[in-house]
Amino acid sequence: MYAVTGATGQLGRLVINGLLEKVSPSEMIALARDPSAAQDIAQTGVTVRPFDYDAPDQLAAALQGVTRLLFISSDDVVRRIGQHRAVIDAAIAAKVEFIAYTSVIHADDNPISVAPSHRETEAMLRNSGITYAVLRNSWYIENYLIGADAAVAHGALLGSTGEGRISAASRADYAAAAVAVLTEPTPDSRVYELGGDDAFTLSDVAAALSEASGKPVTYHHLPEEAYRDALANAGVPAAFAATLASYSADAAGGILADDSQTLSRLIGRPTETLREIVLRELA
Ligand SMILES: NC(=O)c1ccc[n+]([C@@H]2O[C@H](COP(=O)([O-])OP(=O)(O)OC[C@H]3O[C@@H](n4cnc5c(N)ncnc54)[C@H](OP(=O)(O)O)[C@@H]3O)[C@@H](O)[C@H]2O)c1
Repeated sequence: MYAVTGATGQLGRLVINGLLEKVSPSEMIALARDPSAAQDIAQTGVTVRPFDYDAPDQLAAALQGVTRLLFISSDDVVRRIGQHRAVIDAAIAAKVEFIAYTSVIHADDNPISVAPSHRETEAMLRNSGITYAVLRNSWYIENYLIGADAAVAHGALLGSTGEGRISAASRADYAAAAVAVLTEPTPDSRVYELGGDDAFTLSDVAAALSEASGKPVTYHHLPEEAYRDALANAGVPAAFAATLASYSADAAGGILADDSQTLSRLIGRPTETLREIVLRELA
């Protein structure tokens, strides 16, 4: 029996759809913080169970009968170590046989502020006695669409990444990798560094935005503090502006790049490119 946490999230929904192509819905459980948001999933025949990382008493019962679990990391980066501890304890209690967990690329050395909680969760998995796969995802290409309209309007894409290379990939490709790993005939404990085939720079993002919009867009590198202030001046809440600027600066050294092509090998096809996604989404 397969189960997916965060099943009502963007990645979770893609994984549910991908699993449905390989596995009978009677063999699947969608674990949702709010089951009422999963009615469309229930209509496919997949069982929906309540699963709130903040409700430890609920978790082991929800995992009864589950053999293979995709554990999608919480988006609460401040509190998630405790949340993840509760999920892994519940998986141990429910005798889950295999867990695939969504971590961050190069988690061992990654200076990015989300990495310590991923490192700690990976250590919990190693010590759990459960066979595990760590899916160390690089950034989503979709992250670079969020500021696209403003960049096109101003003809300027701002960031602090210099010419640092980024192996972002689409959520759909990461979801396909999760499905591939979950459905392997005999899964082993393994760490997968996952990113797109074609690493890009923010200059490449600007070029893709220019092509898609027909308007010139140029990348401007700013020191981290200046980028933070530019985001805040544009209306991004101060704390979030600081977080986004730190992500951008931390990527300058290339830690989000990975040329192993592990992702495309897992999914059996080339990964979607930045250019393809930008042209499609800005059309
Ligand atoms: N690689 C990247 O670029 C990148 C970017 C952003 C995030 N991430 C990480 O990747 C994960 C999946 O990405 P995504 O795009 O699918 O994010 P998303 O759409 O925000 O989905 C996050 C999922 O986590 C669930 N969740 C949050 N708190 C929970 C709780 N207390 N109990 C149970 N479920 C909870 C959410 O439940 P609801 O559906 O009820 O809201 C949602 O289903 C994120 O959670 C984050 O850890 C990666």
